[in-house]
Amino acid sequence: MFKKVAPYIGEYKKYTVWAAIMMVIGIAANVLPYFFLYEIIAPLTRGEGVSVSFICIRVALVAVCEFIYSFSYVQGLTFSHISAYNTLKNIRISLQGKLEKQPLGNIKELGTGRIKKVFTDDIDMIELLLAHAIPEGIANTFIPAVIIIIMFIVNWRLGLLSLVPLVIGLFAMGMMMKSGLEKMNDYYESAARMNNTIIEYVNGMEVVKVFNKDGESYKRFGDVVRGYRDFTLAWYKVCWPWMAIYASVIPCLVLLMLPFGSMMVLGGTVTLDKLVLVFCMSFSVGPCVLKALNFAGKFPQLDYKITELENLMEHAPLKEVTDGFKGNNYDVEFNDVHFGYKDAEVLHGVSLSLKQGTTTALVGESGSGKSTLAKLLVHYYDIDSGNIKIGGQDITDMSLEALNNQVAFVSQEQFLFNTSLYENILIGKPDATREEVLEAARRAQCDEFLERFPEGINTQAGDSGKQLSGGERQRISLARAILKNAPIIVLDEATAFMDPENEEKMNAALDEIIKDKTVLVIAHRLSTIKNADKICVMKDGVCIASDKHDKLTETCPEYKKLWDASVSASTWRIKEA
Ligand SMILES: Nc1ncnc2c1ncn2[C@@H]1O[C@H](COP(=O)(O)OP(=O)(O)OP(=O)(O)O)[C@@H](O)[C@H]1O
Ligand SMILES: [Mg+2]
Repeated sequence: MFKKVAPYIGEYKKYTVWAAIMMVIGIAANVLPYFFLYEIIAPLTRGEGVSVSFICIRVALVAVCEFIYSFSYVQGLTFSHISAYNTLKNIRISLQGKLEKQPLGNIKELGTGRIKKVFTDDIDMIELLLAHAIPEGIANTFIPAVIIIIMFIVNWRLGLLSLVPLVIGLFAMGMMMKSGLEKMNDYYESAARMNNTIIEYVNGMEVVKVFNKDGESYKRFGDVVRGYRDFTLAWYKVCWPWMAIYASVIPCLVLLMLPFGSMMVLGGTVTLDKLVLVFCMSFSVGPCVLKALNFAGKFPQLDYKITELENLMEHAPLKEVTDGFKGNNYDVEFNDVHFGYKDAEVLHGVSLSLKQGTTTALVGESGSGKSTLAKLLVHYYDIDSGNIKIGGQDITDMSLEALNNQVAFVSQEQFLFNTSLYENILIGKPDATREEVLEAARRAQCDEFLERFPEGINTQAGDSGKQLSGGERQRISLARAILKNAPIIVLDEATAFMDPENEEKMNAALDEIIKDKTVLVIAHRLSTIKNADKICVMKDGVCIASDKHDKLTETCPEYKKLWDASVSASTWRIKEA
């Protein structure tokens, strides 16, 4: 576990070392008063008198010790927290770096809930390890060890007697960890289940309410919450008896020393003086050991969290190089592309070429693999075999940044940042002038709804763009792509949410911007892609035909079927109106 965290501490390791040193000084100062206590009691046991000044000096020394303890402890905590929070920062940044190299598709599959939990809660657990468990653990183990050695030096028999409760306590602690460990996994799994269900419940509340499934949904919610309670109690139940044993035995090192030590004093094998000294020292050991053991009890949990963190990153990183774009032109070629999200293959050898300056449309039934093919062009995932080239250069032979500069992708799922709509469009070309942004918004037919907002283009998009309708979100994304003015444009159902009038305007605008560009467009409404230079018909992950509209209606029955369905759907729409 320490090995796993060590690479991230880096230059801050010295702070952890200093923290441990300060803690050792602090704890030493904290146990020293027990010695002064002995100094005051010892003469009394010998029947000697003690002067007031002697007592006053000892009391003053106790006060000094307590001051040193407080100062060192606070200073130690300061050092340990500097080290801990810088390490947390390093872990988060490194995790972000690893996350960035992961296929984008995989990140989306992980879900925001799990990623958020790892980035915040799980990593925060490491604070406990670095800021407390290591320095305090070292100090609270080192000082008792020294005291026990001194006890043995004073009288090995008394030392041995004081060890017995410690051994019993450690055994109980070991048993608690062993039996607790088996339940711990169940506990964490139930915690993760509860986490996911709560997120799903909140996200899906809209569906739940509309479909009036409150009863069932509440039941599932209630089940996981009750499950969490049961697993937690089950975990505690096996831990508590052992915890009770070690928590009561360990602070009581005098348990055997008291009767047997007294007998030894009466028998003359030990002086009362020595018994009192070992007695006083033993009082300081228990609380320290208990504290150290409490930290030790946390280690299995920490191990679990760190492993979880590593598992999140276990996916192979995306194949990527730092090379720039070196293609000869902006032709795109898919050559025998095979791809599956997990085990099942979704695309079974798709070959397709898109010529620069032409528009290619992908059509096909839902689930035939159109969006998947589009996502592969922007390298959301690595493909299983085959290749995808731009201007002759494989997309895995260029950096993601270089690829992104060549391709503007308007996906089926729109994402807007919670900033102003203006800034959301500006992402397409960060150095664009205000005029350019407004022009892009106008071309994407955004004006019509922007005028309705009191703050126009400066309106905030809301969480994930929730303030906007689906069609409005899509048009903002389109404006972003228009502004980017990349040589290759991929539009996945970019006009799906639009009404016919806006769609017409948009298509006119698109016609203007797609000149000389390589365009891949996916559309359910076939009327919008009727004039495409090439139409590729997808079926079950295979491109079964590709030609112009007129040819396909004659030669490809599947296309004819899609076309007829599309025509009847639009007629139906007109009749409805
Ligand atoms: N993230 C994913 N993980 C696993 N399977 C997926 C994932 N995304 C899509 N699929 C599967 O891959 C297949 C192709 O999906 P894709 O989204 O490419 O279809 P599509 O042709 O774009 O459909 P639509 O017209 O409905 O948008 C489907 O069977 C779908 O269930
Ligand atoms: Mg799709």
